[in-house]
Formats: sequence, structure tokens, C-alpha cells
Amino acid sequence: MFNPTAFINESTENIQKTLKEKALIAFSGGVDSTVCAALVNKAVGKRLIAVHVDTGYMRKNEADHVKQLMEEMNLNYRFIDASDEYYEALKDVVDPEKKRKIIGEKFIEIFENVAKKEDIQYLVQGTIAPDWIESGGELRDTIKSHHNVGGLPEKMNLKLLEPLRDLYKDEVREIARALNVSVSEKQPFPGPGLAIRIMGEATPKRTEIVREACAIVEEEIEKAASENKMMLPWQYFAVLLPIKSVGVHGDKRAYGSVISIRAVESMDAMSCSFSTIPHEVIDLISNRITNTLGNDINRVVYDVTNKPPGTIEWE
Ligand code: XMP
Repeated sequence: MFNPTAFINESTENIQKTLKEKALIAFSGGVDSTVCAALVNKAVGKRLIAVHVDTGYMRKNEADHVKQLMEEMNLNYRFIDASDEYYEALKDVVDPEKKRKIIGEKFIEIFENVAKKEDIQYLVQGTIAPDWIESGGELRDTIKSHHNVGGLPEKMNLKLLEPLRDLYKDEVREIARALNVSVSEKQPFPGPGLAIRIMGEATPKRTEIVREACAIVEEEIEKAASENKMMLPWQYFAVLLPIKSVGVHGDKRAYGSVISIRAVESMDAMSCSFSTIPHEVIDLISNRITNTLGNDINRVVYDVTNKPPGTIEWE
């Protein structure tokens, strides 16, 4: 049985032994990096600098939430808006692994700049076991190079510290509860963000569409769960597909894009089954998406694929 208190004590001691210099953490505001920051902050205090990079591929209002969280946790933090830089770097890029690589490399470039300026020696990352298991290496096949692992350049000038490396998500959540971290029940959000929820080129315009669609899916599902109409799924979001379909607007022919709703149940993200959402909730989501994004979206579908053979994200 996993014992979060024992893990916290042992890990704090190990971090104190290893980290004699300044460290930087890539802080996304998700469960993994937040727990990791809380642990290292507990161990070495202000010697840890939390850096949040706004890639432009974050969810609606995420920047404000992350800032608030870093304040709440009393972290020594830097907030960097690099969205224009990211949009430029992802211009014309459609291959998912290329997106991950570019996003990962840019993260490191930004972190290395901060590290140089502030004389930091260590990079702390909230990598957990499924990240490196599915990113290949040794005898495993690469399913997806999750950016925590795959985006690291061969020659990185920072030493790496990954205190959660051997843990699974449910164990990380247990630590979050034990540390009283307010994001303990938050759904996972991938490092490359909305860029991998846009099939094809992740332009600013297409990002705005998927950002709004994701916000609608989150709001309606969380509302339904709070009214006990359903359980909160493990993960729930929207994906913008690269195809167009014919529809009708008023009495005119329309030709627009398609949004897929994805909601899944999982234990550790290694496998999943699609969630059963009440029809009325799907109906609300579909109507809100087509009403709000009517100029661009005229069709909404629900993804009924398990993992395997699918994966949770579409890219
Ligand atoms: P998949 O799509 O591989 O996702 O079934 C499993 C879990 O990992 C998240 N995910 C990522 N997380 N960088 C991340 O930090 C990534 O590149 C990435 N790709 C997928 C996904 O949201 C799910 O929780």
C-alpha cells in the first residue's frame, strides 16, 4: 500500500541532500508539477524558482488560475508569456510528434535562459511513470514522446531532478491531498496543451476555437457532475478535427469544421474506456458549441474509442 506521508518525508530528505544550489521547476499548474513544486518548495523554499510559460495553447482563463495558484502556494515564481513565439514556431507544423518536439525544445530554451540569467543549476520536472514508459527508451516502443521526456535535447546544460518519476497518477493525487494542494482532483492536461487537440496546423484562430469548445465541455460536464447527473470523468475535453462537413444555417448551406467530444475513465492513463455521459448533457454541449462557434463549427461528434486501441488524446 502506498504511504503518501512516508513518501513525502523520504523525498523531502532526498531533495535536501541533492539540491544544494538553485533549482527551477517547469510549473504548469497541473497535478504533477504542482505536487512536485510543493515537495521541492517544502524541502528548499525560495531556492526553488517556479517558471510558468504561457505557450498560447493553454485553456481559457488558465493563466490567471496558474498565477493565483503560485501566489497561494507562496512560490518564488516567474511568469513568461511566450505565445507569439510558440505560434510562430508551430506555423505549418501538422505532425503530432514534431509539435511535441518543437514545444518541448522551446520550453527547454526558455528555461535555460532563465537558468542562465539567475544562475540556476537544476531543472525539476513533474515527470511520472506513464510519461517515460510510453515515451519509449530501453525495450519499449515510442507511443508518444510526452514532452517531459521526449522534448529534452541530448545536451542539456541543466541537471535533472524528477522526484515523482516512479509514481502513478493516483499516488500523486494522494500526495497532493496529504500536502493540501488545491489541484489534487484536477483532470490531467498535456504539456503541449491545446496544440495536440487541434488536428493539423495549430494556428491562433484554430486554437481559439478548440479553447472555447474545451471550456464548454468542461463547464457542462462539471455542472452535471455537481448536480449528481453523472460522475466526473477522469479526463474530458474537445478536439478540433481537420475535416469539413456540410450543414445548414437558417436556410443556407454551411460548410464547417467538426468538434469531437472526448471523455474517458481511467486509473493511470495507460488504458481507458470512454465515459457514458447522459444524453441531455451531450445535447447541451453540442448546442452550446454550435451556437457559440456557429461560424466555424457545424457538427459535433462523440468519441467512443477505448485505449487501446485508441489513445486518450487524438495526437
Ligand atoms: P495518451 O493520449 O497517450 O495520454 O493516451 C495519456 C495521458 O497523457 C496525457 N498526454 C500528455 N501529457 N505531454 C504530457 O505532459 C504529452 O505530450 C502528452 N500526450 C498525452 C494525456 O492527456 C493523458 O492524460
